Amino acid sequence: MPSVTYTQPNGTQQTLQVESGTTLMRAAVNNGVDGIIGECGGQAMCATCHVYVRPEYAQALPDISDDEDEMLDCATAERTDSSRLACQIQLNAELSEIVVDIPVGQL
Ligand code: FES
Repeated sequence: MPSVTYTQPNGTQQTLQVESGTTLMRAAVNNGVDGIIGECGGQAMCATCHVYVRPEYAQALPDISDDEDEMLDCATAERTDSSRLACQIQLNAELSEIVVDIPVGQL
C-alpha cells in the first residue's frame, strides 16, 4: 500500500498508508493531518493544500497543470521550486512513497 509522510513545521512527522489512487490532500483531510485544509475539495481552486515535496520525489510527480500553477501563485506561504498542491498528487504504483513538508500557514 502506498505511503505518505507529512512533516509539520515543527518537524513532527506522520506517516499514513493509503489506498492507491488517493490524493495527498484527501489522505491528510481524512486522517486529521494538521495544516492541510482542502477547502475546494480538490479542484485546484483554493491552494489550502499547498505542500513542499522533498526533492528526491520530484521526478515521480505529474507535471504541474496551468490551473495548479496559477493557484500556487496564490498560496499563503512562499512558493518555492518544490511547491505543489496536495490535491493534484495521487499515490499509485508509480508514486508509492512520498515525503512532504507542510507550510506554516494556508490561510
Ligand atoms: S484542495 Fe483546493 S487546491 Fe487543493
